[in-house]
Amino acid sequence: MHKLSGKIILELKDVDYTHPSNSDASSEPALRKINFKIREGDSVSVIGPSGCGKSTLLRLLNRMADPDNGRIFYKDKPLKEHDVLNLRREILLVPQEIYIVPGTLADNLKIVKRDEEITDDELHHVLNSVGLGSKPLHLDSTSMSVGEKHRLALARAFLLNPKILLLDEPAASLDLPAARGIIDTISGFHEKFDNTVIMVTHRFRLARRIGGSVVMLDKGRIVETAESLDFFRNPQSPQAQRFIKDAGED
Ligand SMILES: Nc1ncnc2c1ncn2[C@@H]1O[C@H](COP(=O)(O)OP(=O)(O)O)[C@@H](O)[C@H]1O
Ligand SMILES: [Mg+2]
Repeated sequence: MHKLSGKIILELKDVDYTHPSNSDASSEPALRKINFKIREGDSVSVIGPSGCGKSTLLRLLNRMADPDNGRIFYKDKPLKEHDVLNLRREILLVPQEIYIVPGTLADNLKIVKRDEEITDDELHHVLNSVGLGSKPLHLDSTSMSVGEKHRLALARAFLLNPKILLLDEPAASLDLPAARGIIDTISGFHEKFDNTVIMVTHRFRLARRIGGSVVMLDKGRIVETAESLDFFRNPQSPQAQRFIKDAGED
């Protein structure tokens, strides 16, 4: 997946963040001195071991939380100066825990656009694009497998066609072949539209498969940023070298 990158769409400057429940002096911040820039059309994998701050970082990007220090800019304007509801539609977070409402597959897609009519044709189209094209719209959504639920979550996001798609472990708990299928679906979306995709994963094989660039976190700090090919061929930091070596078959 390689496209010519556009102008800077998102920029973090010296961002620190400590979870409010951990704010006594003895606890470590979840994120420290985070600096990076993302260009329009980029595909970025944020990787690192469990607890390093990946999910926290995504939450800051769509204002589910605000930095304690430092600033985040979206389209050259501080994140805080954007209308938060519009912002969350443009910078869409697909969290790790997928919510399913009781009802049909169609019900579970239509909830993302409460104020707009979605035709069955549009629903079929988006289900095709996530590999659920053979599923009937009236399928009981609670009967779907974990992999199918991940695909449903992507279908909802694709319907909204955000400027920036934030994905938190989009293939969590799936085996490698199923996870690869999800990654290929995300790649297909990214190739087709001008969107920016920021994906969090603790599985380096998935980050390698999606390509683009990599930001590696360790204990709340960025330890390495690189083009994906360079990162996996020739990791520079000891943390990245260890992470890749220890990842085994995952
Ligand atoms: N809601 C929370 N309250 C307090 N601490 C939290 C909360 N969520 C995460 N943390 C802590 O913040 C750090 C980063 O967590 P997280 O961003 O979830 O890491 P990752 O997604 O990389 O596994 C960890 O030390 C974690 O224990
Ligand atoms: Mg996480």
